[in-house]
Amino acid sequence: MKRGIPLNQSKWVIEPGCVVLVTGGTMAKANAMTISWQTPINTADPCLVLLVMGHTRYTYELIKQNNELVINVPGEELLEQTHLLGTVSGRQVDKMKKAGLTLAPAKLVQPPWIAECAGHLECQIVETFTVKTHDLLVCEVVHAAAEEAFFDGAWIPERFHTLHYMQKTQYGVLTRRLDAAP
Ligand SMILES: Cc1cc2nc3c(=O)[nH]c(=O)nc-3n(C[C@H](O)[C@H](O)[C@H](O)COP(=O)(O)O)c2cc1C
Repeated sequence: MKRGIPLNQSKWVIEPGCVVLVTGGTMAKANAMTISWQTPINTADPCLVLLVMGHTRYTYELIKQNNELVINVPGEELLEQTHLLGTVSGRQVDKMKKAGLTLAPAKLVQPPWIAECAGHLECQIVETFTVKTHDLLVCEVVHAAAEEAFFDGAWIPERFHTLHYMQKTQYGVLTRRLDAAP
C-alpha cells in the first residue's frame, strides 16, 4: 500500500544522484562545497551539467570570480569529509585543511581538483537562471578524468562506491550493477 507523504518530503523520493564536491576559486584561494542537486542535461557536443547552488554559498562567491568550477566525485571513504564540506562554510573555517583534503591543479580551468576524489569534471558556466534562493548553473564540461581502476564508461560499483544523499546525516552507496535484458 502507498501512503501520501508531506510535499516537503517529496524530493527525497527522487534524491539519489551521486553527491559531488564542487571546487571554486584558484589554486591560491580555493573552497569546496557538497552538492547533491546535480544532473547531466546534455551528454555530448557540448556536454552540459546542471548544478543548483544557493546564493549564500561562499564557494559560489569564488566561482563567480572566474565562472569556472570543478565537480569532484568522492567515494565512500570520504563520507566524513563530504559531510563536513556540506555543513560548514569556508567563510568561517579553512575546510580543506580541516577535512585533510589535497588540492591539485586542474588541466584546463582555474579551480583545483580535490586529489582524493576519483573523478573530476572541469566546467565553465555557460548560463545561469535564478530561482528564488538558488541559481541554476548550466555548466559545460571542458575536461573530464576518472580513476581508471574504478571506471569503465561508468563507475564500477564492485570497486568504487559513490555516495548518495538520503537525509539528515544519512548517505547510501551503490554496491552492484544490474543488467537489463537488451
Ligand atoms: C549532502 C549535502 C548536499 C548538499 N547539496 C547542496 C546543493 O545541491 N546545493 C546547495 O546550494 N547546497 C547544498 N548543500 C549545502 C552546502 O554544501 C553547504 O551550505 C556548505 O556549507 C556551503 O559551503 P560554503 O559556504 O563553504 O560554500 C548540501 C549539503 C549536504 C550535506
